[in-house]
Amino acid sequence: MANSECLLLLYFRLDRHLRDRERAEAGARALGANAALFPQDELEIVGKLAAAGQEHLFQGWPGPGTDDEGKRRFVEQLLALDASTPGGLEDYVARARRLLKDAQSGRNPLDGWTPSVPLGENLAYGSESFCDFEDLGMEEAGRCAFVLVAGGLGERLGYNGIKVALPTESTTKTSYLQLYIESILAMQERAPGNGILPFVIMTSGDTHAKTVALLESNQYFGMPKYQVKLVQQEKVPCLADAQASLALDASDPFKLQTKPHGHGDVHALLYQSGISKEWANAGVKWICFFQDTNAMAFRSIPAALGVSKMRGFHVNSLAVPRKAKEAIGALCKLTGPKGETMTLNVEYNQLDPVLRATVSPEGDVNDPKTGHSPYPGNINQIIISLPEYQKQLEASKGVVPEFVNPKYTDSSRTTFKSPTRLECMMQDYPRLLSGGQSVGFTVMEAWAAYSPVKNSPEDAAAKVQGGNPSHSATSGEIDIYNANCRVLKMLGAEFGPPQTRTFNGIDVEITAQVVLCPSYAMTYRELASKFNAAKVRIETGSSLVVKGENILVKGLELNGALKLDASNLYGAQMLTLHPGMKVKNMGCQLVESPLDTEEEVRIRGFYVQIQEIKVLDKGEHRSKLKTQTFRKSMSKKHRALT
Ligand code: UTP
Repeated sequence: MANSECLLLLYFRLDRHLRDRERAEAGARALGANAALFPQDELEIVGKLAAAGQEHLFQGWPGPGTDDEGKRRFVEQLLALDASTPGGLEDYVARARRLLKDAQSGRNPLDGWTPSVPLGENLAYGSESFCDFEDLGMEEAGRCAFVLVAGGLGERLGYNGIKVALPTESTTKTSYLQLYIESILAMQERAPGNGILPFVIMTSGDTHAKTVALLESNQYFGMPKYQVKLVQQEKVPCLADAQASLALDASDPFKLQTKPHGHGDVHALLYQSGISKEWANAGVKWICFFQDTNAMAFRSIPAALGVSKMRGFHVNSLAVPRKAKEAIGALCKLTGPKGETMTLNVEYNQLDPVLRATVSPEGDVNDPKTGHSPYPGNINQIIISLPEYQKQLEASKGVVPEFVNPKYTDSSRTTFKSPTRLECMMQDYPRLLSGGQSVGFTVMEAWAAYSPVKNSPEDAAAKVQGGNPSHSATSGEIDIYNANCRVLKMLGAEFGPPQTRTFNGIDVEITAQVVLCPSYAMTYRELASKFNAAKVRIETGSSLVVKGENILVKGLELNGALKLDASNLYGAQMLTLHPGMKVKNMGCQLVESPLDTEEEVRIRGFYVQIQEIKVLDKGEHRSKLKTQTFRKSMSKKHRALT
């Protein structure tokens, strides 16, 4: 090292040492006699916070000898939060002040930007082009990794457990996590090559231990343990007022109140953990991000993956048609004053004013041709191309821009109803992009793509009253059955007439409880190749579960409950239902549940009572010709498309 470089290094070290000493002195002043309880490096964090206008945290402490354990615990928490909060606590407070000032002014953060409809693909489930995209997507499946964000508290649902442990439906009681794992394994099974598809789950302090316990007690639902990685997000400090004063826990004066930072942490965690880099080096091309309670998630992923591939999208957001002004984020392309562009999710309450101020004096209105807003509704399922993503993460460390959303006590916008915090969202990743990248969407009908479980029974009923989807445990389950019936109907199956039932005050139409497991078919064409729906009739109230790849339904008349299970067949064994197959038994009933039953039942308002069920799980040695032929034609199609 040259002399001048040595001198410079020495200078920086000295400067840092002096700064640390000054901070420790400021910390000692803030603590008074209590300073004697802490070593110099712990006094530094106190000094840092005092300099950032947070002296109130240490005021009113009793003298040494009283509550010393609490004081030490508090400083330990500060150190931990300083290390885990992006940029450290000082920077967090500075960012919070800026964002709170903007929030106080009531300024729309999109002022100056002009919205337009971004690039995208509108797919009708089961159409030729949908199936072509699905086939193309399945060709890409071997180069996918999956990321589930599951750190949310689920306050709106009010469920005591973790949401991924909830049954998706009560016929098979398959949990969300099990369904996701089985879907990934089913994609892996059908993907070209023999690779494994990595799976990451982002948890938080609220969900981590329960998620690990769920996986461990179920042997990872059949996925090798090494295939699943968990990354845990940390909470961030709460802010008590518009000056960004950090809030103390109401029940403990030696504890900062903290809250989740939002699912946007997923990008920083994939970067910090080295996982994204490892995947990029291993040749992973696509990351599919999805959320904790959407049983339809994997019904849309193959087609959306095909769209990403065909359109060369760096970011592809899945969306559903959205009514104008509907309370769901809208996907928009925004052009700034200098011609810069970004395509991203815009909150519905920001979209309408910015449209009025720019291109549409009447605001967000439905297109008379489609009956929907031209700006589709974001469902927060995103497919990102990894090579470019990794480059962005290297530059930004995956820290996406934050926002603050305080609930003010009055129009002066100075005091909050309860402490707030900075948050960040997974879908804000495109804000990090420079504008040159291709960002688009894939729209699919909601019945086939989106039915999350977010709301308590009470709130769900109110949502329905207001003309909105209930997004409840009730709808989450009934939508699965109805989507499966609809798909079989599209393929030619006949059903009895639907019945109207009322659960937890919500009216639902239901025909039959049909569960098609991911192991049976991953795409519409695969299903069509194995299920001769034209020779199938299912009576109202019947139950049908189809599980395992090697099942050929050539005909069926069902009036009752039937489970087809090929999961224990091997080789070329096929479970075949021949034409003329009739099953009639007492079946299973959906029974309305009293309100004091177990939580999983209470939140959906019913349970399934099994009276009689026929199980077929034996195979015949038949050739898998049909499936093989199907696979071949699928590969040809991919070649034609790519
Ligand atoms: P939701 O919008 O459903 O929020 O999150 P939530 O926090 O789970 O529920 P509420 O708002 O308290 O009722 C969408 C997805 O993002 C995850 C959730 O687990 C869900 O999959 N999430 C949310 C995180 O991973 N971390 C967070 O900090 C927040």
